[in-house]
Amino acid sequence: MSALRSTRASRLRQLSALLLCWVSTAAFGAVDPHSYANPDQLRVQHLALDLNVDFARRQLAGTAELQIEHVDPKATELVLDTRDLSISRVETRNADGAPWQATAFRLAARDAVLGSALTITLPLQAQQVRVHYRTAADASGLQWLTPAQTTGKRHPYLFTQSQAIHARSWIPLQDTPSVRMPYRARIQAPKALRAVMSAQMSERPAADGRWQFEMPQPIPSYLVALAVGDIAFRSTGERSGVYAEPAMLDRAAYEFAETERTMALAEQLYGPYRWGRYDMLVLPPSFPYGGMENPRLTFLTPSVITGDRKLVSLITHELSHSWSGNLVTNATWSDFWLNEGYTTYLTNRLNEAQFGVEFADMERVLGVEDLRDAVAHADRADHALVRATPAADPDEVFSSIPYERGALFLSWLEAQFGRERFDAFVRGWFDTHVFQSASTAQFRAYLSTQLLAQQPGKVTEAQIDAWINAPDLPAYALMPHSDAFTQVDAVRAQWLAGTLDTGALPADTWAVQQWQYFLDTMPDSVSLAQLQALDQRYALTRTSNQILASSWLSLAIGRGDRRVWPDAERYLQSVGRMRLLSPVYRALKRTPDGRRYAEQVFAKARAGYHPIAQQSVARLLKEPG
Ligand code: BES
Ligand code: ZN
Repeated sequence: MSALRSTRASRLRQLSALLLCWVSTAAFGAVDPHSYANPDQLRVQHLALDLNVDFARRQLAGTAELQIEHVDPKATELVLDTRDLSISRVETRNADGAPWQATAFRLAARDAVLGSALTITLPLQAQQVRVHYRTAADASGLQWLTPAQTTGKRHPYLFTQSQAIHARSWIPLQDTPSVRMPYRARIQAPKALRAVMSAQMSERPAADGRWQFEMPQPIPSYLVALAVGDIAFRSTGERSGVYAEPAMLDRAAYEFAETERTMALAEQLYGPYRWGRYDMLVLPPSFPYGGMENPRLTFLTPSVITGDRKLVSLITHELSHSWSGNLVTNATWSDFWLNEGYTTYLTNRLNEAQFGVEFADMERVLGVEDLRDAVAHADRADHALVRATPAADPDEVFSSIPYERGALFLSWLEAQFGRERFDAFVRGWFDTHVFQSASTAQFRAYLSTQLLAQQPGKVTEAQIDAWINAPDLPAYALMPHSDAFTQVDAVRAQWLAGTLDTGALPADTWAVQQWQYFLDTMPDSVSLAQLQALDQRYALTRTSNQILASSWLSLAIGRGDRRVWPDAERYLQSVGRMRLLSPVYRALKRTPDGRRYAEQVFAKARAGYHPIAQQSVARLLKEPG
C-alpha cells in the first residue's frame, strides 16, 4: 500500500518536473546539451572576476563572484560548469555588504567533453555566490606562451579562447550561450606586462596595481576574454585601434587602418554599433583561429598581416559578429549557423560595399570551395545546417558548413524577396533580438511571420526545412560565380595542357584570392614537374603569405613532392592557426611515409600549439588517411 503510494508520488513528481522543464524550455529556449548549468532555476545575472596571473605556475587564481536570479524561488542548488578547476572554497551572501558565509559544494566526476558540474548549496535568500579557485596548467581555454613563442622574445604571454565551451576551464560559470551577463574584472599581472579584456578598459592599472575592466552589456560566457603580455596600443580612428606586441604595432596599424570605414558601412546596413569601441588584438602566431569576435576587442592571428591589406575581410567577418553573434547570439551550439552563417553573409555584403562585387564574388566562390571540401570531410549527418542530434563535442564537428551553407541560405532568401526587403528583414531580426540569445526555431518563426507570410507564394516552409535540416544542399541554391576565377581557369587549362609557359601565366597580376583559387582547385592532372616549375618561377615555398603557403605546401605534398617536406616542417612549427595547419597535415598523412613524418613533426610542434589545436591535430592524425 505504502509502496504503491510512493510510486504514485514519484510519478507525480516526475510529471511535474517534466512540466516545469517544458514550461521553462518554452520561456528560455532549448536546453543546452553542452552545459550542466540550471539557468531555468537559478540564473547568473552578473560576473565579477578577481584574478592573479601567475606565469611561473601557469595559473590563474582568485575568485569569481556571481549574482544570481532565483527564477524558481524554491531552487537551492546552483549548478555551474567547470573543467579542471581546483575549488578551495565557496561562499554566499544575501546582498552587497552582507557577510560572506561558507557553503557546501560538490564537484562531479570529470566528463571528457563537458568537464565537471559544480553543485553549490544556495540558501533561498542568497543573491551572490563567490567561488575561490585556481586553473590547471593545461586548462583547455588558456595558452601560456614562453618568451620564445612571442614576437618580442622577452616576455611571456597568456591568452584565453573561450568559444565554444572553454570558458569553464578558467571561470566557474553557466557556460552556455543562452545565458548572458555583464561582467567586471580585476586582473593582477606582472608589472612589466599589460592585461586586456573584451570590455571597457583604461590605459593604466589602478593604484593597487590591478587592471580593471567593465563590460556593461550582457554577453554570453564564450565572449569573456583576457590576454596578458607585452602589449602596446595604437589608435586607428575615432572608435578603433590595435593592440599588439610593440614589434608588430606598426604593421598591424597599417593593415587595419580602414576598419573605421567598414564600421560605418556595417552601421548603414545593420543598425548602430552598440559596443562603444572596436579594437583589435594581434596575437602571437600560435593563436588557433583566424579571428575571434570577443566584444570590443577582436582577437586576431598575425597571419593576416601581409602588408597589403588584402586579407582584411577577416576583420569584416569579426566586426560583423558585433551584430550576428554578439548582439544576437546562438542559443546553443546546435544553432551555430545563426552566428557564423549570418556573419559570412554579412561579410559578403560588406565586401561588396567596400571593395566591389568582383572582390566579394571571389570571396564567395572561395567560400563555396571551402564548403565542398568540408562536405567531403564530414559525416553526412553533419551536412545539414542544424544536425538532427547535437554533436558530442562542438570542437569536433567544427567546419565551414554552418558558415558557407548558412550564407548561401541567406543569399537565396535575399534573391527570392529582393535586396531591399531582405535587408529590412535582417535589420529587424537584429533590432528585435538585441542582447538576446536566439534559437533556429525562433529564427524560423520570425522568418515565417516577417517575410514568408508577408509575401505569400514566394518561399515555402518545405524549402526552409530543406535548407536547415536536409543533408543535401538544395538543388535550387544559387551558386556564386567569379569572372576573375574564370580567367584563372582558362589560363590554367592552357598551362596544364602545355600550351602556355609557366612564365607566361599572368600570375604577377593576380589577387591573392586568385592565387588561392589557382592552388586550391588544381586538378589531379597537374604533374610534379609542372608544380616544380611553378615553384621555381614564383618562389611559392618561400612565400611570406602564410595562407598561400598552406595552400601551396598541401598541394605539393599531395602530389608527392617530398622536397618541400622540410619546409612543411618549419611551417608547421611556426603557425598555430588550425585552418592553415590542417590541410598540410592532411596532405602528409595520405601516404604511410608521410603519416610517419607528420607524426614526428607533430611530436616536436605539439608543445607550441594551443590546447585546442593539439586536440584537433591529434584527432586528424588518428583518422584513417
Ligand atoms: N567565432 C569564430 C571562431 C570560432 C568558432 C572559435 C568556433 C571557436 C569555435 C570566428 O568568428 C571565425 O569564424 N573565425 C574564422 C574567420 C574566417 C571565417 C574569416 C577563422 O578563424 O578562420
Ligand atoms: Zn565567425
